[in-house]
Amino acid sequence: MASAAPVAAAVLAATLALAAPRATGEGRAIAMPDAPRQRELVALLHQDCGSCHGLRLTGGLGPPLTSDALRAKSEESLVATILSGRPGTAMPPWRRFVSEPEARWLVARMLAGASRER
Ligand code: HEC
Repeated sequence: MASAAPVAAAVLAATLALAAPRATGEGRAIAMPDAPRQRELVALLHQDCGSCHGLRLTGGLGPPLTSDALRAKSEESLVATILSGRPGTAMPPWRRFVSEPEARWLVARMLAGASRER
């Protein structure tokens, strides 16, 4: 088993390289969900979030999640709203379903115009 250690180290290094956050245009690191998870998150956005925010995310029971509506807001507060919800309103917490990097990715996706996808 003496040869197992270098192999384990190589696997760990590869895993860390895959998990390493990538830099965005703004110079801020966000971890990218992998492609299958991105498809799940997009489906969640349009179906689950869309049930309150409108199927085209242009607003319903919840406010619009269009790039125009969100551009001026703090990204941190939008991420916090997704993870923790807004107590006292219909906005539920999504922490059990999406991780913090995934919430960041969703915010970036909404700012990039997810409302125009459907
Ligand atoms: C059960 C209804 C409901 C669902 C489902 C829901 N939301 Fe909300 N959401 C709301 C309401 C209502 C508000 C406004 C809360 C308030 O009055 O501050 C809100 C607010 C928000 C805000 C803040 C918008 C702003 O202009 O500040 C974001 C971002 C948001 N929701 C994203 C999401 C995402 C992403 C999902 C799906 C993962 C989701 N919501 C699912 C009802 C919902």
